[in-house]
Amino acid sequence: MQPDRVALFGGAGFIGSHLTERLLDDGYRLTVVDVDSEKIDGFLSHDRLDFYELDIREAEDETVEEIVDASDVVVDLIAYANPKQYVDMPIEVVHLNYDQNLKLVEDCVESDTRLIQFSTSEVYGKMGGRQGDARVFSEDSSDLIMGPVENHRWIYATAKQLLERMVHAHGIENDLDWTVVRPFNFIGREMDYLIEEPDAGTPRVFASFMSALLYDHPMYLVDGGENRRTFTHISDAIDAVVSILEHEERYNREVVNVGTPGNETTIHDFAYLMRNVYEELSPTGDLPAIEAVSSEEFYGEGYEDCERRIPDAEKLEAAGWDPQYDLRETLEEAMSYYIDRYERAEPISLD
Ligand code: NAD
Ligand code: UGA
Repeated sequence: MQPDRVALFGGAGFIGSHLTERLLDDGYRLTVVDVDSEKIDGFLSHDRLDFYELDIREAEDETVEEIVDASDVVVDLIAYANPKQYVDMPIEVVHLNYDQNLKLVEDCVESDTRLIQFSTSEVYGKMGGRQGDARVFSEDSSDLIMGPVENHRWIYATAKQLLERMVHAHGIENDLDWTVVRPFNFIGREMDYLIEEPDAGTPRVFASFMSALLYDHPMYLVDGGENRRTFTHISDAIDAVVSILEHEERYNREVVNVGTPGNETTIHDFAYLMRNVYEELSPTGDLPAIEAVSSEEFYGEGYEDCERRIPDAEKLEAAGWDPQYDLRETLEEAMSYYIDRYERAEPISLD
């Protein structure tokens, strides 16, 4: 049965705001719960959207239960999702990303509501084979390998992993219908926030480098930028999430990677590619310096990086998912939005 009312917890964040826009376009009725509405302010008066400005940690249990009960599907996106937060406030990360989200899982069990739980590619851990052959991460066969406890950056991945295991266990013991989504570095417009000065915050890498380009401060390569990521354009990612939402029979009780395997790069090459695209889109803009920094200097003690992660995207591809954006196109589309918004009076055409 096609869902009608969808609840998006954390639906005003980066992924949530794109999902909100797409699901409203597609005719769904939405309930969005978030502490902040800024990224979806343009939709708040939509007649098929109910917005609850709530901190899930302080919300009345009954309010959350009623929202879950009234929905055909709950999509849970709430989390601290930024590595600097894992290093700076590890306990709060577990409290929100595990304890609070587990309550939502239990509400879904109680009301027999289907759950799409956002997890992370970080659950695969740190060993993607940089020193040897690349290991592609598969949902049902790859081992999940974290670093030592003293490198507490892994607290986010372990909290998400335990949440995945609890979702799975509720499927076995309590008949919960669920899908776990593991995103691989989605990027695009509305990601995190921009910083005008280098010490004004630590957004994730795309927003961090975009800020450096717009506000002319250095692009910092953590530990030289040798580690790799596989980036996915947000609109390809949203296509995948909508396909999961609309095909319960295919994805029920499955863990699903969402990532574009061909879009792998080192962070070093990513920085130079962003500079290159910026030069093309904004020929009069200054190009910032690129500087290497140690991870301890950049994030603080307790950080350890994932060296490489490439998704096995077979589950989505078998259902016809066909990502449209290679890495350069992803950057051209996302960066032109920021350049139009912050540097130009008149938007440019990419054609
Ligand atoms: P985001 O930070 O933009 O979105 C999270 C949203 O949750 C925000 O709007 C935030 O305001 C909301 N939120 C946080 N605490 C809350 C609280 N106490 N009560 C109510 N709302 C609260 O992050 P995102 O990139 O959109 O990520 C969404 C989900 O996907 C997260 O679970 C994240 O771990 C996961 N994820 C994202 C990526 C990615 O590439 N963006 C990769 C892996 C995993
Ligand atoms: C992110 C976050 O943990 C989550 O959003 C998400 O769960 C996960 O990705 C995912 O996609 O699964 P990470 O990729 O480490 O983790 O976060 P970024 O801030 O985007 O960093 C990517 C790489 O760039 C890392 O190697 C980091 O050290 C590096 N980096 C980051 C820089 O070199 N310079 C910067 O200014 C920022």
